[in-house]
Amino acid sequence: MNVQSDLQLLSEEVFAESGAYIAGGVVSLNRKVNPRIVFKAARGSKLYDLEGHEYVDYHAAFAPFLLGHNHEAVNEAAMRAMRESWSLMGTGTTLWETQLAKLLCRAVPSLELVQITNTGSEATAHAIRLSRAYTGREDIILTMGGYNGWHNEVSRAVMPSLAQMGPRVSPGEYPFIPMSAGIPEGTKRRVHVVNFNDLDSIEYVMRRYPVACVLTEPVLQNVGVVLPRPGYLQGVLDLCERYGAVCVFDEVKTGFRTALGGYQGVAGVTPHLSVFGKAVANGFPLGVIGGRRDIMNQFDHPDPAKKVLIAGTYNAHPFNSAAAIATLEILQDPGVYAQIAARSNQLYAGLEGLFAQKGIESVVARNASAFCAYFCREAPADLHDILTTHDFEFDVKYRLELIKRGIYHIPLPCKQGSVSLAHTAEDIDRTLEVTEAVLRTI
Ligand SMILES: Cc1ncc(COP(=O)(O)O)c(C=O)c1O
Repeated sequence: MNVQSDLQLLSEEVFAESGAYIAGGVVSLNRKVNPRIVFKAARGSKLYDLEGHEYVDYHAAFAPFLLGHNHEAVNEAAMRAMRESWSLMGTGTTLWETQLAKLLCRAVPSLELVQITNTGSEATAHAIRLSRAYTGREDIILTMGGYNGWHNEVSRAVMPSLAQMGPRVSPGEYPFIPMSAGIPEGTKRRVHVVNFNDLDSIEYVMRRYPVACVLTEPVLQNVGVVLPRPGYLQGVLDLCERYGAVCVFDEVKTGFRTALGGYQGVAGVTPHLSVFGKAVANGFPLGVIGGRRDIMNQFDHPDPAKKVLIAGTYNAHPFNSAAAIATLEILQDPGVYAQIAARSNQLYAGLEGLFAQKGIESVVARNASAFCAYFCREAPADLHDILTTHDFEFDVKYRLELIKRGIYHIPLPCKQGSVSLAHTAEDIDRTLEVTEAVLRTI
């Protein structure tokens, strides 16, 4: 099999080889879904599979492609970095990491200082360790239905079953339901999982344990789109300040997709630390941790016993940094967000109209260009609401029928859809036509 030259391959042949050489047959096993599709290319708002089918893409590779796939100016920035010998220095300060850091700090006011990683998971791992070093405490609080990466502390089930989750607990905490084998018991004991939008439970844990940080997505965007109730995020920050914990917003999904200043800017809340990824480099691998100067300076503490390690051969890799700089420069233009909002609103209004016409109980939940159609009466406020009210079976059928007709949402219930700058009014019209046809059949 020669990927470069043989474009006549059939998906079955690729599956046979991927199964032979890749554990589980696909890289990153959260991508193991049905139908299995071999994708060949992606441009703008479209995905193309090996069999020649075109899809309007709302999955966007789990959301980074805010400007669309293969954005010309972003690609050109990365290619320029290669042409101009921006080889990986890994030696000292570089111009582009400095420029990127400045753009980030200017875009998000809570970022007094930043460090750059390759992924969101690395950045959340650093945020936890930094918080522990800063506070001298070890326990952490996470939210049920949140995802913060793959490392031990945060690998609890994102979408456990209702049987696993049990009845609503408030104030109180849920058990750590692991999403992975191999997590030490000692690690699980330090992690307290509470419902989103539940300040009483955060306080319940803080009264009982020495909490280093609360790490939460400001909007739950790994179980659809679950918005914070008014005052919730400020309440999290206030509790952190009262009990001496670090308030960390995981903006890997919300950052830059919501607005240039992140969801925190829209909410008007200034967390102590924030973590970004995904849309910041429009698909190039880059993560960011940043926030209050005194906390971030712990990375460079003069006392070796207090200094927090941050390292990584590829941190602030020039190609990815160039892509992030180009992305952030494009996002400075408010017209870009206005155009994405116009397309998103066209889609949301269309979907709401179609669901209403067909008498389908539904809520199109949204945060800017991130959206999710829940098949239930009211927008959920936490995972418990989703598990008890959403029609999971209908959701999966709906996604599968859309995929068959060329509209790609990942075929897993409650996964966020993403609109990009590349989506055209015609793409949205086509999506709505297909949706209407799908709703006639299911
Ligand atoms: C909110 C959130 N945090 C962290 C991560 C981890 O980022 P990465 O996949 O880049 O490691 C993700 C990835 O989906 C995420 O959605």
